[in-house]
Amino acid sequence: MPDRFTIILAAGQGTRMKSDLYKVLHPVCGKPMVDHVLTQVEMIEPTEVVTIIGHGAQKVEAVLGDRTQYAFQEAQLGTGHAVLQAEQILGDRTGVTLVVSGDTPLFTAETFKKLFQFHEEKHAQATVLTALAPDPTGYGRIVRNELGNVERIVEQKDANSQEADIHEISTGVFCFDNQTLFKALHQVKNENAQHEYYLPDVIEIIRHQGGVVSAYQMAEFEESMGVNDRVALSKATKIMQQRINEAHMRDGVTIIDPASTYIDSDITIGRDSVIEPGVQLQGHTTIGAHCVIGAHSKIVDSTIEDQVTVTASTIEQSIMHQGSDIGPNSHLRPQSEVGAAAHIGNFCELKKASIGARTKVGHLSYVGDATLGSDINVGCGVVFVNYDGVQKFHTTVGDHAFLGSNSNIIAPVHIADHSFIAAGSTITNDIPKHAMAIARSRQTNKEDYWRKLPLANSEDWK
Ligand code: UD1
Ligand code: CA
Repeated sequence: MPDRFTIILAAGQGTRMKSDLYKVLHPVCGKPMVDHVLTQVEMIEPTEVVTIIGHGAQKVEAVLGDRTQYAFQEAQLGTGHAVLQAEQILGDRTGVTLVVSGDTPLFTAETFKKLFQFHEEKHAQATVLTALAPDPTGYGRIVRNELGNVERIVEQKDANSQEADIHEISTGVFCFDNQTLFKALHQVKNENAQHEYYLPDVIEIIRHQGGVVSAYQMAEFEESMGVNDRVALSKATKIMQQRINEAHMRDGVTIIDPASTYIDSDITIGRDSVIEPGVQLQGHTTIGAHCVIGAHSKIVDSTIEDQVTVTASTIEQSIMHQGSDIGPNSHLRPQSEVGAAAHIGNFCELKKASIGARTKVGHLSYVGDATLGSDINVGCGVVFVNYDGVQKFHTTVGDHAFLGSNSNIIAPVHIADHSFIAAGSTITNDIPKHAMAIARSRQTNKEDYWRKLPLANSEDWK
């Protein structure tokens, strides 16, 4: 097998996106488009990968890191000019070069492999990957001769009405004999509607030089979709979302309504977990086995272990250990950790809070900047008062403590193991082991108070 190289085009601004973000960095299911492309490219294990960067170069480099080499295209003079920038790195190598755009996020490694195979079988110097587009608007059209062989590719803006009617499009993906490619690129001219150096023009150049040019038509157009604007971005997202959901379902996850379930790329979900409608799983999130992620929950950059139930709650940068549960309508803010079999009920908010095993925070509580041990009962409406307007303070609560309802715990305090707080207390001092803290004024009943009121004379009150 000859050496295989890949060039990814990612230097364009993406004017049609009308965005401050460079086109290839727009995410599809949480992952930048160019990252999707590189991920699939990596699966074919090319000897070298060169990404052409220009607009937003540093940002693209920050996303892809050292997974690829880079060539810089100073001015965006067209896709042909872009590929030429890789000459310094690849120019004198022998092998086959795959060229792919950074704005076609749906391509799979499988398709790239088939293209390589087809190209090698045909002993071609150039092979273009084509598809039949229901609506070819915007794509380069494949012009074939009477024998069905590819003659050239005509861009939308240069096409006459006959050419514009062609539905077979160039997907922007090619295989080339590496040295033939760079030789041909030097002959590309910019005499066209956009005054750009078009990569597709090398097809005609190579053919004129007697090279073998072939075309490999893929079965479905969908995978080749190029994302040039937000409408295409939403279509690509829909397709990617469906692909991701189906992969999880095949792996043993129940997804009740895939059309309304938004799972980012690279998220793992264990077997027999159930994902209800309207759920969003984002970023670096892992879900264990036998979990129930209830309707309208949103989980971002978090770890959910096995047998966890999340009901209509939001979880960010947090961990829920095995068998714990949360919700409905609760919020784990960053750096929270819920222990095994612990229970977070309704309308609770945790922030930088760690809750030990089997501890219960059942109703309407705020736990911020606190470390709670295991087997604690936090009553209804307990507030960890962590902020004095300037600084945040931390509270610790020992195992088996009982925190009565509607207590305010003013940090910093330490509440020892097996201690109690009477309901309605405002705690400002440490509580020792086995003690009960009661910090509220005593109740006094004013006997026969009613007699002091004018209504004492009314018949009803006698
Ligand atoms: C391109 C093809 C078209 C094909 C379509 C498939 C050309 C001239 N046209 O059109 O035949 O049907 O893709 O999706 O090749 N880029 C650079 N430097 C440049 C110009 C572009 O790096 O100077 C990059 C862009 O960032 C993008 C890719 O090349 O990732 C394609 O450019 P784009 O402007 O999107 O081309 P299309 O009009 O989609
Ligand atoms: Ca494009």
